[in-house]
Amino acid sequence: MPHTYTAVITGAAADRGIGMATAYAYARAGWGIAILDLDGDAAVRVAAQIAADTGVKAVGARVDVADETSVEAAQKAIDVHVAAGDIPSVGALANIAGITSPVPFLETTLSLWNTVLAVNATGTYLMTRAFLPAMIEQRFGRIVNMSSVSAQRGGGVFGKVPYSAAKAAVLGLTKALARELGDSGVTVNAVAPGAVDTNIRVGSTDEQEAAIANAIPLGRTATTAEVADVIVFLSSDQASYLQGTTIDINGGSHLH
Ligand SMILES: NC(=O)c1ccc[n+]([C@@H]2O[C@H](COP(=O)([O-])OP(=O)(O)OC[C@H]3O[C@@H](n4cnc5c(N)ncnc54)[C@H](O)[C@@H]3O)[C@@H](O)[C@H]2O)c1
Repeated sequence: MPHTYTAVITGAAADRGIGMATAYAYARAGWGIAILDLDGDAAVRVAAQIAADTGVKAVGARVDVADETSVEAAQKAIDVHVAAGDIPSVGALANIAGITSPVPFLETTLSLWNTVLAVNATGTYLMTRAFLPAMIEQRFGRIVNMSSVSAQRGGGVFGKVPYSAAKAAVLGLTKALARELGDSGVTVNAVAPGAVDTNIRVGSTDEQEAAIANAIPLGRTATTAEVADVIVFLSSDQASYLQGTTIDINGGSHLH
């Protein structure tokens, strides 16, 4: 049965990415789909493919989540699609777009620091600010933010200091916003995956990947589907009493 609402998913155009797997998981649960990605052509292409594969309504558009003007334009573009009946109104926002950096602290330039913070943390803030008002107005919304085990234990996978700091900012944003939302009908929660099998660690050597897998009690990295399913759960009616929480998806690699 088609879902009443659309899920907006950022960073969902990359092949093998968590975002694309999440978009498919939402679609299989019947949600309308809006793919927003830095690669606008790929976003449109992936949306069309999801619509063809699953039968849900889906649109795609470009966004740079770190850029206020771009985020506002993307939000307006989605509004136009909703008004035209291309997709249902937005009920979920999955802030998945992110970048990492393996550069050691003393080699980290201010520019690199700012970029990593801008995409992961400011991007989550800007997207949430853009889509929250309509969720509050309709008294239903599910926001799911992408953190990382790196925020909780200070890296240890691939990303270094700016990445851990940015993903920790995402957790702080999630918790503080949860308090402010009160009984608005909108929930905001986070997921904190450990290593997931995607292209984000391009440049990682076979030895580094083996060391990552060996340090995980389950003995392997997560599949993108294993992360996607938790995000869709957090967006479901069954998750109505989860507010400001973080769900770890790390194969037992960080137990706290
Ligand atoms: N793969 C992992 O091991 C892992 C672990 C924990 C958390 N994460 C987080 O999960 C998210 C997805 O990671 P992934 O592994 O699928 O990465 P990925 O590199 O495969 O995909 C990232 C996507 O984000 C998009 N993107 C990048 N900058 C953007 C911007 N400024 N605006 C809009 N879109 C932008 C890219 O185009 C791409 O589609 C990231 O936030 C990442 O930090 C990944």
